[in-house]
Amino acid sequence: MNGSASSLNGMEGRAAFVRAHTALEPVPMVADIRLYTASEVVPIWRATEDWLSERGLGVPFWCVPWAGGQALARFILEHPEIVRGRRVLDFGTGSGLIAIAAAKAGAAEVRAVDVDPLAVAACALNAAANDVVVDVVCDDIVDGDPKVDVVLAGDVWYELTASARFARWLRAISQRGTLVLTGDPGRHYVPSHARELAVYEVPTSTELESSRSRSSRVLEILPLPPSDDDDPRAAGD
Ligand SMILES: C[S@@+](CC[C@H](N)C(=O)[O-])C[C@H]1O[C@@H](n2cnc3c(N)ncnc32)[C@H](O)[C@@H]1O
Repeated sequence: MNGSASSLNGMEGRAAFVRAHTALEPVPMVADIRLYTASEVVPIWRATEDWLSERGLGVPFWCVPWAGGQALARFILEHPEIVRGRRVLDFGTGSGLIAIAAAKAGAAEVRAVDVDPLAVAACALNAAANDVVVDVVCDDIVDGDPKVDVVLAGDVWYELTASARFARWLRAISQRGTLVLTGDPGRHYVPSHARELAVYEVPTSTELESSRSRSSRVLEILPLPPSDDDDPRAAGD
């Protein structure tokens, strides 16, 4: 483990790490929300890479708001009726941006899940900084029944095997009548069977996206028609 990551094994150490390596900054697309944000991702990556790889994790996703997440958070704040009074899950929460937007928009309950313990620490800090209540959980709940009314998933379509898993699960949830929305800036494995609800031009860091902005869509994930096989792109066929 790298020196600066030596205290990452407890919740308090992880929270201290997040605070030490980031600053509270407004989110470009939703300036009412402020997040503990890194000015550069690579130094945090270096500081945590051994710790992350021991846990099968790759990138410190929690330290910036991703383009797909920003689009979805903006959409939720522009259409609060989607979550108002409802139970909401933010799947792959990272910084917690979408969970915070849902709470601000009047959701009855908001749960945020991520497999990265540092994301959980960051999300808890960010929820407190924005004065909202979010139930933050570190778990892989894919294939389970989330028991919510709305599932939101920001920018999770960047890896083939994981995307196929997420797509199957989210489609099954949609099939049961739960609203499932995702925000996506054109990642390779986004499911094609989806309904476009909005498009935003989201400012991005060139360190992460090789571009100053990304056109990012908000999509409703739809169940596949019974006759279709699974989405070929997400299934990796
Ligand atoms: C690119 S980040 C997006 C974060 C946030 N939604 C946003 O848009 O800013 C993807 C997140 O998904 C999380 N993730 C990956 N696999 C997951 C799984 N099986 N269950 C929950 N979270 C997962 C990662 O740890 C990461 O925080």
